[in-house]
Amino acid sequence: MSDTISKDKINSLICDTSYNITVLETVNSTNLYLKELAKNNSPHGTVVIANKQTNGRGRLGREFFSPADTGIYMSVLIQPDKIKLNSGLLTIAAGVAVCRVFKNLCCDRPLIKWVNDIFVGGKKVCGILAEGLTNPSQGINNIIVGIGINVTTAVTDFPDELSNIAGSLFPEDATRNEIVAKILTEFKKLYTDNDSGELIEEYKSLSLVINKEISFVINGKPHTGTATDINMDGNLVVTLKNGETITLKSGEVSLGSRNFINQ
Ligand code: BTN
Repeated sequence: MSDTISKDKINSLICDTSYNITVLETVNSTNLYLKELAKNNSPHGTVVIANKQTNGRGRLGREFFSPADTGIYMSVLIQPDKIKLNSGLLTIAAGVAVCRVFKNLCCDRPLIKWVNDIFVGGKKVCGILAEGLTNPSQGINNIIVGIGINVTTAVTDFPDELSNIAGSLFPEDATRNEIVAKILTEFKKLYTDNDSGELIEEYKSLSLVINKEISFVINGKPHTGTATDINMDGNLVVTLKNGETITLKSGEVSLGSRNFINQ
């Protein structure tokens, strides 16, 4: 089965003309490329997909390993005034959309490690990086939602520092075009709906951290507690050992390796 990413193929599978898709062979980062398009007034629904990234970017300044032919590197331009969903929940919506597709295609239990690392079989197979662009008169007027998925990247191809963490999806017979088309379809269903409550409930049902002991750092100080909830803003609510409750808006949490087993 040919797995060349193709704009025509994706469009024929989506049956929705509201996305304007560009496919590139190689780019530094689809998020950076789409940011430039957004600055030049590209419309809501512009999508950039690359077969390879030379400077794939992850959260917290990390690199996102993006080799040719084996992954999906895709960015979607969303304009908050064109959607019904609270734009602060776009990252959550993208994670839920990806998990719906993974469940449908190949994986019984994809799980999301807050905020948006998606794990299958205990390995991270997808990361999401949403970046806002601000206009002085309008505030955040463009949001770039970048989604990176390891589809068939071999374990041995990952750099050493990722080899214990990263994995690939290995869908039995779905092409990258089908995966892209399904994710764009599910993502649009979620951002054209304003039911934040239902979205958060679905996100919670996919959570890898709820009811788990987690650790994290605030202002250089390490903390440990139990993740108890995701609130309506998509923030993580944690109960510390001393009974105090704190709400994390961003950053990263860690789970003991024990928690990745038995999922
Ligand atoms: C993370 O794991 O921290 C987020 C990774 C996000 C990677 C995607 S790939 C498409 C888009 N372009 C980028 O440079 N990054 C995002």
